[in-house]
Amino acid sequence: MAQELLLGIDLGTSGTKTVLFDTKGKAITSKTVEYPMYQPQNGWAEQDASDWWNAVAQGISAVLQKSGADPSAIRGVGLSGQMHGLVMLDKAGEVLRRAIIWCDQRTSAEVAQINRVIGERRVIEITANPAMTGFTAAKILWVQNNEPEVYAKCAHILLPKDYIRYKLTGEFATEVSDAAGMQLMDVPARDWSGEVLTKLSIDRAMLGKMYESQDLTGKVHAAAAKETGLAVGTPVAGGAGDNPAAAVGAGIVRAGRAFTTIGSSAVVYAVSDQVTIDLGGRVHTLCASVPGKWTVMSCTQGAGLSLQWLRNTCCAPETERAAAENKDPYYIMDKLAADVPIGAGRLLYLPYLMGERSPHPDPDCRGVFFGLSAIHGRPELIRAVLEGVAYSQRECVDVFREMGVVIEDMLACGGGARSAIWRQMLADLYGCPVSLTEADEGPALGVALLAGVGAGVYASVEQACDAAVRKGSAQPPDMEAHAKYEPYFALYKKLYRDLKADFETLAKIE
Ligand code: XUL
Repeated sequence: MAQELLLGIDLGTSGTKTVLFDTKGKAITSKTVEYPMYQPQNGWAEQDASDWWNAVAQGISAVLQKSGADPSAIRGVGLSGQMHGLVMLDKAGEVLRRAIIWCDQRTSAEVAQINRVIGERRVIEITANPAMTGFTAAKILWVQNNEPEVYAKCAHILLPKDYIRYKLTGEFATEVSDAAGMQLMDVPARDWSGEVLTKLSIDRAMLGKMYESQDLTGKVHAAAAKETGLAVGTPVAGGAGDNPAAAVGAGIVRAGRAFTTIGSSAVVYAVSDQVTIDLGGRVHTLCASVPGKWTVMSCTQGAGLSLQWLRNTCCAPETERAAAENKDPYYIMDKLAADVPIGAGRLLYLPYLMGERSPHPDPDCRGVFFGLSAIHGRPELIRAVLEGVAYSQRECVDVFREMGVVIEDMLACGGGARSAIWRQMLADLYGCPVSLTEADEGPALGVALLAGVGAGVYASVEQACDAAVRKGSAQPPDMEAHAKYEPYFALYKKLYRDLKADFETLAKIE
């Protein structure tokens, strides 16, 4: 019999990564296809769902071609994706407007509306989170309030990866780990909340059927098979939001385990056996993609996004050098940062390019370089950005510790974790070792494993992780460096408090 295979698709913000795995979790081939993010106004963020589908179709065709794999050997497809986005389709299944994505912050008025119509406490009781500008519910209300003609035509509301499921299988469905970030679910009950839907005037029929992440939700239909090269009838599992998917890919599926991921956003994520809520909304409580488990998760909106912004706006010389040397520009930028001492020459960076969620739910704050001097050059700017993102993770880890989550060692994943200097900053700031996973396919591996559970390759998510996830090398913290970071970290925290009212004033200037 041909070798059994699993396919994982991770629909990210900068691109979609499609990876073919064997059932031991080894990546056979992978393909990433990039696409743009549109920012029609300061604080808004949108993407074209058709770009996502084209990237998926191209990615699947490319991995099948490169590997020469027999498509009928693929036991299941898993879908992972950026969370909290809003895709709206009409009754013919056509996209109605550009998707409003996770880092969009246009919905302050709608958050106030949610608190008014449901009640601040009741929102938390049901959805396990205070009303959030970044979550999908507020975005749906924004369309109701600002584009009523679009809302009138809307027949289906989907999360980004669930749009891909629709394109592959024709099914309108979702699963608990991603749907929990829509703020439309009764999170403890792991299903849609009738009360929230009624009070927000959202028709239940617009939302997909709810599954657990490992459940099979449909099969690849003939038109999708033709476009992608997959076999008709290949099962598609529920999958997971990118962070719960990364958790499975890193083997973080048992209570008490935690990891940090640095992608466009950065997340600290811990698994628990019960629903634990931070009433201040500094961290989110969501469903894990393991039945009967939940998660506490922080989200820094502008993490890799900050470094990408710096690369695009200031680092043309490094980008050119990287092209000439056939290297990644981030590799060159890392080397420059490594030569700058801790504190970046007394330069601090606050990573609030797209407002912030954790630990400051604040749509109005924006990025800051503090302490800029004529002595600084690009190396200091790069180091300050890396440190600012790392300070934000430490600030979130302090909230977890305050909530009683014991963090004695941390796994790191996502594109940012490939940077040894960034990982060392995390270890030094957390004061605990930071390890890598052997595979760096995180979310794609996670959902491939979930599809394997659905297809009967593994008995459970825990067993899939035991069979296919291996821990890589660990970096210990340097406690001397830890001590050197502390005064900068204290100032970093103070700067947000000092500037909070000024951010609000800035946002109000017409
Ligand atoms: C998590 C979040 C981001 C997106 C980006 O709450 O908004 O991590 O999932 O990929």
